[in-house]
Amino acid sequence: MPESGRLQRFFSARFDMGAVRTFLDKQLHKRLPPHTGWLHVFGSLSLLLFISQTITGILLLVYYRPTPEAAHSSIKYITAQVNFGWLYRQVHAWGASLMILFVVLHMIRTYFSGAYKRPRELTWVTGVLLFILTITFGFTGYLLPWNQIAYWATTVGTESANKVPLIGGWLRYFLRGGEAVTGETLSRFFVVHVIILPWAVTGLIALHLVLMRLNNLATFERVGEEKPTPPQAGIPFFPVHVAKEGVVAVLLIAVLVTLSVVAPWEIGEPANALSTPEHIKPEWYFLPSYQLLKYFEGPWGAVVGVIACSFPFLILILWPFLDFGKERHPRKRPWAVGFGLVGLFGALFLGILGHLSETDMTLFGRRYHIDLLGWPHALGEPPKDAPSAEH
Ligand code: HEM
Repeated sequence: MPESGRLQRFFSARFDMGAVRTFLDKQLHKRLPPHTGWLHVFGSLSLLLFISQTITGILLLVYYRPTPEAAHSSIKYITAQVNFGWLYRQVHAWGASLMILFVVLHMIRTYFSGAYKRPRELTWVTGVLLFILTITFGFTGYLLPWNQIAYWATTVGTESANKVPLIGGWLRYFLRGGEAVTGETLSRFFVVHVIILPWAVTGLIALHLVLMRLNNLATFERVGEEKPTPPQAGIPFFPVHVAKEGVVAVLLIAVLVTLSVVAPWEIGEPANALSTPEHIKPEWYFLPSYQLLKYFEGPWGAVVGVIACSFPFLILILWPFLDFGKERHPRKRPWAVGFGLVGLFGALFLGILGHLSETDMTLFGRRYHIDLLGWPHALGEPPKDAPSAEH
């Protein structure tokens, strides 16, 4: 008897395998709404990246040491000595950025298609929590190589906690495990990064997917007028949608490996608490908040700044309960679409200003210095390059 037959008999003798098969069949062949297409793959790509982060993270853990003395050298050891260590370290570092990017794209897709409206409010709320936890993954993971940039970016980042009204001082102390960023901070960030966040995100993703399956994907029908997709209509989850997901998954893995090879992340110099680097900037996903905070000065200004940075997250969580409109199609929701676009381009604009701030650049043939707040200051004529100067 073939192995599979024996296995089947083993389980059938103990469990109601008919019920299990019916359940799995129903899930696999579920019909998705007819407009389900390529834009509906961002959620699965986020999931794929989370799985990849978990696998590469476990591999990194084999040799990584979370102490100020050993953290930096253990990363160096992984990249230089361990078989394929350079590859899984790079895939993990690039995967972090790509996961945040795909979670944001997924959020944009669900926002503009009105998928957060009744009855899917809780799918959206669990999604926003996943978004917050995903960027927390980025923040805590950034410190772990214990290099100069990471050390000082974390010092600046945790310093902003001090501006939170009433509990600021305590919050900064709690995050750092003391007055400054030290080995205590590294231990805390390590525990949050490798134990608390992975389990919290796993649980939340499971809940998010169950909620998504219970309500099926949203159609463009008005709230309260959605009809279940009949078995003969719509897009079969398997094989049609799964095939699309498979194609983009292969492309994503190719992009991940290509980036790892052609644009590897530097390990940088080991952290030095006595030498502050000239320009400290956070990762791209924190640039909008980093830039926004700069416009608020003085003790009260800083408090307003922290509130201004937290406010968008509060609005995001509550959004399904604030938007009462019944329409889902973006063309029938001009206000919600306009609001979303303003938020999106506002964040993008602040991020670009944050990226350009404190740099020199040439704009329409003139050199400019972009100051801390993003204002350009003319620096005179652009330096002529050698060949043209000779002619
Ligand atoms: C780790 C992060 C996340 C994972 C793994 C994930 C996964 C998924 C998957 C696989 C789907 C079904 C297919 C699709 O629409 O792509 C889905 C649906 C959904 N997700 Fe997420 N998601 C995540 C984060 C988010 C975020 C940040 C939001 C919004 C704030 C969100 C809101 C939704 C909503 C509203 C749906 C239902 C879509 C519909 O009915 O058309 N998710 N999610």
